[in-house]
Amino acid sequence: MTTVTSFDINAIRQQFPTLQQQVYGKPLAYLDNGATAQKPQCVIDAINRYYTTENANIHRGVHFLSQQATTLYENTRTKLQAYLNAAHSHEIIFTRGTTESINLVASSFGKAFVKEGDEIIISAMEHHSNIVPWQMLCEDKGAILRVINMDENGVLDYAHFESLLNEKTKLVSIVHISNTLGTINPIAEIITTAHKVGAAVLVDAAQSVQHMRLDVQQLDADFVAFSGHKMFGPTGVGVLYGKEKWLNAMPPYQGGGDMIKDVTFEKTTYNELPHKFEAGTPNISAGIALGASIDFLNELDFEAVHHHEMELLKYATQQLSAIEGLKIYGTSPSKSATISFNLEGCHPFDVGTLLDRMGIAVRTGHHCTQPIMKQFGIPGTVRASFALYSTFDEIDRLTSAVVRTKSMLQ
Ligand code: ALA
Repeated sequence: MTTVTSFDINAIRQQFPTLQQQVYGKPLAYLDNGATAQKPQCVIDAINRYYTTENANIHRGVHFLSQQATTLYENTRTKLQAYLNAAHSHEIIFTRGTTESINLVASSFGKAFVKEGDEIIISAMEHHSNIVPWQMLCEDKGAILRVINMDENGVLDYAHFESLLNEKTKLVSIVHISNTLGTINPIAEIITTAHKVGAAVLVDAAQSVQHMRLDVQQLDADFVAFSGHKMFGPTGVGVLYGKEKWLNAMPPYQGGGDMIKDVTFEKTTYNELPHKFEAGTPNISAGIALGASIDFLNELDFEAVHHHEMELLKYATQQLSAIEGLKIYGTSPSKSATISFNLEGCHPFDVGTLLDRMGIAVRTGHHCTQPIMKQFGIPGTVRASFALYSTFDEIDRLTSAVVRTKSMLQ
């Protein structure tokens, strides 16, 4: 793997084979990183190596391959522990992704700690995966779901949040960075405020762990959920960080192999953390390759990456705002490098389709955040979401392509 000591974008881009291709005869400008990030060669190699020479089931075999695969898989857990500065490696639970991590907490924390009349707080800018599991829990338990308002810039109403908190609030589940609006929420402050009434806090970090370092102990977060594929790792693997005290007190999420200590038809005793929450054969290759993506991230100078992404955001905002009839949704002063917009009189789907023909990959639609669309009174947006390998040239191409699209559609 190439070592990137400062921010050398060419050295970074060279590590990503997908970025080297053309679509429809044009160089690919991949601006859909909120949906999934591209993979560096080291991650691709790790998957290839696993199936070529390392394939075996884990935690089950005395033979060489099984023990080796177990070590490689568990190494990723240790790398994640360090990446998040978790107190224990058994606080890192492997899941299929952010969605499963949140469902795990809604189900298991819900069973242990939520009763009729209790309250769960989410916000108006949540992704469906941080809305529906809580609605299901509330329906099941007779609990109440409260929603923090946001303003027309996509900024949370903090006073409203404080007014919703009370001794019945059991959990606050909040997105760190909005996938649709790019808003960065003040999670440290939210956690401190929620803890004053004894509520636990889950941070949906799906859009943040790849852009900034999170220190779960410093934040005092109770749970953090994220996906491997958005942090340059493979699909099919994700993480739930949970404080030991909660995970120990929560019942298992699923039953099956690996999560048990002893099974009889009369009674089963459960395994210790983290295995209690990891029933069945996991996605082993993805777990091992996620370790390679953490290695990739660890090689980066995060300050330089942050600076680059903020410059991209500033430049793209200036360039796109100058287009007449273009409206940007999400104008929080604290924002990640994601821009959702619409062109007056044009359906986002049509805009996205024409941009695609010009080699520019963006996401269109409601981005699994229908309540945000409802608040803004729109069917969807076009979303350009940048990553550390995005370039200013790609923004120029996006801007010209949007201008061209406008002339074709209006
Ligand atoms: N939640 C992902 C996105 O925003 C899939 O595109």
